[in-house]
Amino acid sequence: MIELINVSKTYANGMDVLLNINLHIGKEEFVFIVGPSGAGKTTLMRLLYREEAPSSGKVIVDRVNVAELDTEQIPYLRRNIGVVFQDYKLLPKRTVFENVAFALRVTGAPRSTIRRKAMQSLELVGMLRRANAFPDELSGGEKQRSCIARAIVNNPPILLADEPTGNLDPTTSWDILQLLEKINKRNTTVLVATHNKNVVDDMKKRVVALESGRIIRDQQLGSYNV
Ligand SMILES: Nc1ncnc2c1ncn2[C@@H]1O[C@H](COP(=O)(O)OP(=O)(O)OP(=O)(O)O)[C@@H](O)[C@H]1O
Ligand SMILES: [Mg+2]
Repeated sequence: MIELINVSKTYANGMDVLLNINLHIGKEEFVFIVGPSGAGKTTLMRLLYREEAPSSGKVIVDRVNVAELDTEQIPYLRRNIGVVFQDYKLLPKRTVFENVAFALRVTGAPRSTIRRKAMQSLELVGMLRRANAFPDELSGGEKQRSCIARAIVNNPPILLADEPTGNLDPTTSWDILQLLEKINKRNTTVLVATHNKNVVDDMKKRVVALESGRIIRDQQLGSYNV
């Protein structure tokens, strides 16, 4: 599903952020990407949805080397990848429903399909009863659930979550991870970049540890530290 082959990334300022990364992630795996601040976790994710291109190497997503995509092909890649961020990035003047529906409107789907899919997605994350609320009326956990609903509304085979619990308390963090696991079990490959030691240790999933742009550990049923 995802394969990085000899991937390196140097930003325009000359900073080497990823160094010869080789990584294979199979269909429907659940993987934590851990490592200290600046290790390159976010950069690795940005390569997958082509927010950035690698300086060298191949980034294969569903058999396509996304490093070689033309600009006009990138939106099609992104329909196959849902993305969730620490700071939510919800549109503040739109309701929860509208935020989720917006992701479908760009695909040109008919209005009735948009409504049905958005409602299904909100139901899956437990946000149906808050569908008409605005983002500033929600708790952090509810905001993150809304973002997850938006990310999965197109039913993407891949879901990327970059520090999804960064602004949440331990109980809410745990709920969000349970939700990500539920989505994983519905045939979605899930990658979670995180500093959250407790959730990584509790979930016992594959752990890929980055340090200074290199993979220093790749462990099944892993923990945050060795
Ligand atoms: N657009 C950019 N231009 C230049 N340098 C960048 C850019 N984005 C990130 N960096 C640098 O690349 C390094 C890796 O950043 P990245 O955001 O991938 O780390 P991270 O592991 O996600 O860290 P954190 O845990 O703090 O989120 C950092 O030193 C950062 O300053
Ligand atoms: Mg980051």
